[in-house]
Amino acid sequence: MVTNHPEETSPGFSTRSVHAGEPHENPYGGVTIPIVQTATYTFPNSAALEQFMRARASQARVNYQEYGRYGNPTVRSVEEKLAALDEGEDAILVSSGMAAVTLTLLLLLQPGDHLIVTADTYRRTREFCRTFLQRWGVRVTVVTPGDYKAMENAIGADTRYIFSETPTNPFLYTLDLERLVEMAHAKGVRTIIDSTLATPYNLKPLTYGVDLVLHSVTKYLAGHNDLLAGAIIGSEELITPLRDIQTIFGAIVDPEEAYLILRGLKTLELRVARQNESAFEIARFLDAHPRVHRVWYPGLPSHPDHEVARRQMHGFGGVVTFEIAGTGEDARRFVDALRIPRIAPSFGGVESLVEQPVLMSYYDVEPEIRQAAGISDQLVRLSVGIEDLDDLLADLEQALAQL
Ligand SMILES: Cc1ncc(COP(=O)(O)O)c(C=O)c1O
Repeated sequence: MVTNHPEETSPGFSTRSVHAGEPHENPYGGVTIPIVQTATYTFPNSAALEQFMRARASQARVNYQEYGRYGNPTVRSVEEKLAALDEGEDAILVSSGMAAVTLTLLLLLQPGDHLIVTADTYRRTREFCRTFLQRWGVRVTVVTPGDYKAMENAIGADTRYIFSETPTNPFLYTLDLERLVEMAHAKGVRTIIDSTLATPYNLKPLTYGVDLVLHSVTKYLAGHNDLLAGAIIGSEELITPLRDIQTIFGAIVDPEEAYLILRGLKTLELRVARQNESAFEIARFLDAHPRVHRVWYPGLPSHPDHEVARRQMHGFGGVVTFEIAGTGEDARRFVDALRIPRIAPSFGGVESLVEQPVLMSYYDVEPEIRQAAGISDQLVRLSVGIEDLDDLLADLEQALAQL
């Protein structure tokens, strides 16, 4: 990071989110980094080209590239910012959260390897493990999050990685990272955490010894419900081969989108701090409401992982999951009566979003599987945006009053 005060070695979170990865001097004296909108790069002459190729072949860091799929300054700026925020050595920005998941697992696993995944990771991640990875000869075991004994028992001589989210979606189960890492590393197994729901403001898994962190940048990091991207953050040793495979798979982000991510990241703390605060108040309000049967929010003492979350997280996040007291039809009427949150999948943006999982992500899932996952007809997931808390509370109150 370039600052006016190079002696300051550990700037605060928002200082990093504004300045990390940003050159101190930009073309034309601009404050902000330009969107370097180019597909390819020119060389002034053959000698310069040869010098560049020699530097790249010797793994030296080069500050320009030959072709857009191999790198872009605007994209690189996002990567450096993401690495600084999650306290990793390096990061790569990829085309979606799913690209982050699939690239990582495809590179790290080989036929004959074993992977342990927790049961309520994002549905498409589990689908990728169950179908694609198994077809390619990777053994996959799914364990219940929080069942550390089952996880330990599942570790065999062929186990390479444990993959989990924390908090999970939609029930916000929170994995004890200290315990997970200690158990895995003792047996030579590496850990990967999809930290999308937490954000680096609320949790930095790498500081607990986790080997790789993934994010769907689509959610809180970009934060405005207007683009899709993903990120992988970790040591240079793990990130460098991932960057190489990314250039082959082509799962890159274009410079305009990268600029929007940079812009979103600058307000990450402001947005997430507000979302933490509002979601906590909303969880308390819903918990006390007679028309609400149950609330899952890690900030509430009633959440099974409250103690872990309290110890491990800076804030409890912006998603609140709850069951309406009544039927699935009641939950539907409640969702339809809301005026501020829009009915949509996804979470983490400035706009509040609401969904009944049974009508959205679990719509085409067998009822038995849905039930086993705890997804009832009355379940509602609310992603709290940055609107005024009083307006959100009044809206929830009026919608509940209609039941
Ligand atoms: C926890 C988690 N990881 C990964 C993804 C996939 O991200 P994307 O939609 O950006 O591909 C999602 C998406 O909804 C998610 O919730």
